[in-house]
Amino acid sequence: MATAASTSAATVLASRLLRRSPRLLRRLGSLSCAPPAALSARQSSSRCPAPLGRQQLGHRARMGHSTAASAAPAPALGLTKPNAVEPPQVTFSAKDVEFSEWKGDILAVAVTEKDLSKDADSKFENAVLKKLDGQLGGLLSEAAAEEDFTGKAGQSVVLRLPGQGFKRVGLIGLGQNAPSTAAACRGLGESVASVAKAAQATSAAIVLASPGGIQEEFKLNAPAAIASGTVLGLYEDSRYKSEAKKVHLKQVDLFGLGSGPEVDKKLKYANDLSSGVIFGRELVNSPANVLTPAVLAEEASKIASTYSDVFTATILDVEKCKELKMGSYLAVAAASANPPHFIHLCYKPTGGNVKRKLAIVGKGLTFDSGGYNIKTGPGCSIELMKFDMGGSAAVFGAAKALGQIKPPGVEVHFIVAACENMISGTGMRPGDIVTASNGKTIEVNNTDAEGRLTLADALVYACNQGVEKIIDLATLTGACVVALGPSIAGIFTPSDELAKEVTAASEISGEKFWRLPLEESYWESMKSGVADMVNTGGRQGGSITAALFLKQYVDEKVQWMHIDMAGPVWNDKKRAATGFGVSTLVEWVLKNSSS
Ligand code: BES
Ligand code: MN
Ligand code: ZN
Repeated sequence: MATAASTSAATVLASRLLRRSPRLLRRLGSLSCAPPAALSARQSSSRCPAPLGRQQLGHRARMGHSTAASAAPAPALGLTKPNAVEPPQVTFSAKDVEFSEWKGDILAVAVTEKDLSKDADSKFENAVLKKLDGQLGGLLSEAAAEEDFTGKAGQSVVLRLPGQGFKRVGLIGLGQNAPSTAAACRGLGESVASVAKAAQATSAAIVLASPGGIQEEFKLNAPAAIASGTVLGLYEDSRYKSEAKKVHLKQVDLFGLGSGPEVDKKLKYANDLSSGVIFGRELVNSPANVLTPAVLAEEASKIASTYSDVFTATILDVEKCKELKMGSYLAVAAASANPPHFIHLCYKPTGGNVKRKLAIVGKGLTFDSGGYNIKTGPGCSIELMKFDMGGSAAVFGAAKALGQIKPPGVEVHFIVAACENMISGTGMRPGDIVTASNGKTIEVNNTDAEGRLTLADALVYACNQGVEKIIDLATLTGACVVALGPSIAGIFTPSDELAKEVTAASEISGEKFWRLPLEESYWESMKSGVADMVNTGGRQGGSITAALFLKQYVDEKVQWMHIDMAGPVWNDKKRAATGFGVSTLVEWVLKNSSS
């Protein structure tokens, strides 16, 4: 009682004071982040801290009709700032010489189950293993037998070897066959990373017991796939931990997998690609209180300023999006205190001479609460919904890699309508009718189907860039996870040609996709009594109706593919982002370039 009384007394006192003092009232009213015009940039930034990206990066992008700079977002809620942690820096060298003289911390020998077969004298039949076992006085075969190492994929055994040129030898199981797919080579690289980490090795060598088992067409890609697997296996995101994990591995020599300028070029490509995948993972791992739409825009701008010979960035604020009539996107953003940022990066090759124009569009929900149709109940994963910008992370991860690779002959537009799906008095209600930038009206029968509402306006914008092909990527539906599980993305496209291109790209990237139908008869469930469409159909075929919705916003002349990556965006076991999509997108752009 005493507390309530004194509180109300204080309130009365304050309101009396305010009534008597209009000056004080004015001062309280101006405690917002908008700096008075007379303040210099330096003064204003000390009042309203700059977005995290800008503080960290220290450089700004060239912006088109940008207005993002004027809206400095508040400091991260919870006062969290990621530490600057260098991603692993590993040098790979492909060598075509004998490995037995190699000196270093760990020699990793990749073996299939067949490689382990023994002859009548209980000696390895495989030439590489036989020689190594001889050199080590039979230690290798002894260890394999004692540890019950049979060469199964994922198995490994490591021996310390005092007095040898290499301090350790590791046997890495490949399963039944030599690694003839990108996925298998990446897996091998990951296993090498894990034994190298455990041994705190700074140098490693990789040897295949049967290098002849790799198919001829795949030979040139194998070293690069092993290299990116190794780097990505080494990487652990410790930016938000008070102690960063140190990566020791610096040098990896690849033996017997070819050598020369062509292989070296692929190895450089693997490094560029890995940095894009790591960037994508970091964007997804960043929590929504740190990675707001403004910070995502800042990160995109940073790509443009780092690779300013090929990129320009345009960031559109709410006002500009209103001018463009993006009612569908803005309705999703309306509840949030963090304003939306529509992000457009444009890649133009240095030599001019553009033969193909592409767009890559990503869903960029920095958080998805569901809105008024709030995510509740077991399994709704609301606490993971920071990953709902995984599509945009794939887009910017690919942009970062391509900024380094610089493919000729292709122009690429990277487009993200970034925002947050929250709940407040200014938010979109279930039943509201919103109007997208192509004039189509949508009755929002579920505020949790927000991704498609943002993508609608992003796809219209992409078509207006005059591109021939568009791929969009989105963590769009839980239904897709039910259908394909956690590691396969669904693809939807009316174009068999585009389906072929992306399938070919996925064979080199090692990422998994499965084509699902755009069944037109299911559009029936998307009809509205009052608007052009609703935003959700029934529970059945939920990923297909979502894809059919997106199709309403794409010009028929444009080849278009939608990728639903709700499953593979996240690795539950590692409790971290995968960087899914980056590798396939980069490969697809290269296929459309003239390199
Ligand atoms: N971001 C979610 C999709 C999602 C759910 C991704 C679970 C990963 C795991 C999306 O915005 C969403 O909420 N979709 C709804 C659509 C429904 C309301 C038709 C869903 O899948 O439940
Ligand atoms: Mn949702
Ligand atoms: Zn969502």
